[in-house]
Amino acid sequence: MPVANPQALEFLLTRRSRPSKTLRAPAPDAEQLKVLLTAAARTPDHGKLEPWRFIVLQGDALQRMGKAAEACGARLGKDAEACAKAANAFATSPLCVAVIEVQKPSEKVPPVEQTYSAGAVCLALLNAALADGWGANWLSGWTSHDRGFITENLGLADNETVAGFIHIGTEGKAPPERPRPDLDAITTWVSE
Ligand SMILES: Cc1cc2nc3c(=O)[nH]c(=O)nc-3n(C[C@H](O)[C@H](O)[C@H](O)COP(=O)(O)O)c2cc1C
Repeated sequence: MPVANPQALEFLLTRRSRPSKTLRAPAPDAEQLKVLLTAAARTPDHGKLEPWRFIVLQGDALQRMGKAAEACGARLGKDAEACAKAANAFATSPLCVAVIEVQKPSEKVPPVEQTYSAGAVCLALLNAALADGWGANWLSGWTSHDRGFITENLGLADNETVAGFIHIGTEGKAPPERPRPDLDAITTWVSE
């Protein structure tokens, strides 16, 4: 039998994202972040394809991304509010890890499984950051899906997409609990 880890279970039962708007400096430094990225990369991955990688955005890079989001949003005809929201997500972030899904050719592992694994990496990074006492939030938005924006500003190849932007920093204000799913409504028990 595996050894029980009640602290880890308690963490999983109570974990809660911290809205990115409430995150402040300091963010984890390089050594602290490497531990979190190592935990995130320890994620189920069918066929050991490693269909993901990380881009760490900090300092001037976040300001550059913010300006690019503002300009790109306007070019795409997004309204001023959508442009400002996308720009601020980067410009006010203490640190952001772009988790990149990298589709690998495989006869055994279909693309969707590689997508699931990239999503799992996002959650693993989020949870590692929270477990280490940081505030963290998984965001997407149009900047994560627009081909032009991610190619131009993150240098992604055609087989790459953004699985998530994980913002990490120091918690400003703890958010209220969020309603959680009704377990009975989403669970079917099958015994025969
Ligand atoms: C793929 C994905 C994208 C998300 N994008 C956003 C987003 O752009 N903006 C936002 O407010 N929440 C977004 N969320 C929701 C938050 O990350 C998070 O689920 C919510 O704050 C509750 O998190 P918790 O269960 O950890 O408390 C996204 C969640 C996922 C899984």
